Amino acid sequence: MRFVDIIEKKRDGHALTTEEIQFFITNYTNGTIPDYQVSALLMAIYYQGMTSKECADLTSAMMYSGDTVDLSSIKGIKVDKHSTGGVGDTTTLVLAPLVAALDIPVAKMSGRGLGHTGGTTDKFETIPGFKIELGKQEFIDQVNQKGVAVIGQSGNLTPADKKLYSLRDVTGTVNSIPLIASSIMSKKLAAGADAIVLDVKTGDGALMKTMEDSEKLAHEMVNIGNQIGRRTMAIISDMSQPLGFAIGNALEVKEAIDTLNGHGPADLTELVLTLGSQMVVLANKAKTLDEAREKLQEVIKNGKAIEKFKTLIEAQGGDSSVVDHPEKLANARYQIDLPAQKAGYVSRIIADQIGIAAMQLGAGRATKEDIIDPAVGIVLHKKVGDKVAEGEALLTIHASSDQLDAIKQKLYDNIEISDSAKQPQLIFKVIT
Ligand code: URA
Ligand code: CA
Repeated sequence: MRFVDIIEKKRDGHALTTEEIQFFITNYTNGTIPDYQVSALLMAIYYQGMTSKECADLTSAMMYSGDTVDLSSIKGIKVDKHSTGGVGDTTTLVLAPLVAALDIPVAKMSGRGLGHTGGTTDKFETIPGFKIELGKQEFIDQVNQKGVAVIGQSGNLTPADKKLYSLRDVTGTVNSIPLIASSIMSKKLAAGADAIVLDVKTGDGALMKTMEDSEKLAHEMVNIGNQIGRRTMAIISDMSQPLGFAIGNALEVKEAIDTLNGHGPADLTELVLTLGSQMVVLANKAKTLDEAREKLQEVIKNGKAIEKFKTLIEAQGGDSSVVDHPEKLANARYQIDLPAQKAGYVSRIIADQIGIAAMQLGAGRATKEDIIDPAVGIVLHKKVGDKVAEGEALLTIHASSDQLDAIKQKLYDNIEISDSAKQPQLIFKVIT
């Protein structure tokens, strides 16, 4: 097989065979095919697209390009959740113990944040003592014994995706739905779950800014998962404003504790119940989404969910007393309110820009090497649709410095107050 023939075939709009895609991924991963040829193929895919079968073949080839996690020694149906990423998304912190409280095994592998704010692993690491790096066997034993474990991404998972993603980043080919769908799904499938729930975000703060693109991505990922034999569902949820109130690592752990105790922000709670219900149904612990939701609400009410969070923290060496005493988590030196400059209704809170402001405070990484400050971030007091009086606090900035003029200006520039505003919709679609 000559790689140039594969490039020309795709350039001319034809579908590649399973063997051709396998040849591409194997020989790119092992260094036989050079970047310049792969760049040409990626650009051809960008313009010509891929069929669902090509996407599944590409996903499968990438998934098997390195190690895969074998969860078969964990009893029960392992359901994983993946979000396409947003600002202040605290769902994994809540969902892992919540779903585990219904005796569904949760073996969660999470990435570090490369976006504006920290990833799930960064958030867990703000809990004193919490160890996110577990050995493979330790991870599996913990799930069998405690019902839940969370680890950072380790081992040589999907090396083909790592190489391709770096190349896409510098060749203008990130923004291709078949390439995004297969990239995300290859990593999820390599992580070993039997079933997957996807939270595809849409809006300013999301990878996909329009509903049309978000739907295409969701359908493509659901197709891939099901074709590869793992039951997969997706929802499309709003990321035009940050999720919940808190943006920042320790602040989001506090928000997760509130939510597990039944008094979290309304949008975060609703999203967690929606995603959680799908996970419970996929795990065969309820017949309908309504029955699943009732079960989840029950374990929040009776305290089993928050108990499971304590169990998880202790199992991984953390200090679980933070659950009853969240003030033990890192606190920022300065806590400064941002007063509304006029009265009205909050009509926009531009998620990605608020995320960048949080990153500038130190809550996220601009480059891989940056060190996160666990304490800093932003806590919103008003969300889109809320009424606000002049001078009333829109949010509180948690900072390590009181030199905040530039950040305050950025926040003002990205929060709109109008004469009227509607409550935004949170969940747009469920795709099965
Ligand atoms: N996230 C991924 O993992 N892959 C993509 O291609 C885009 C976002
Ligand atoms: Ca949040």
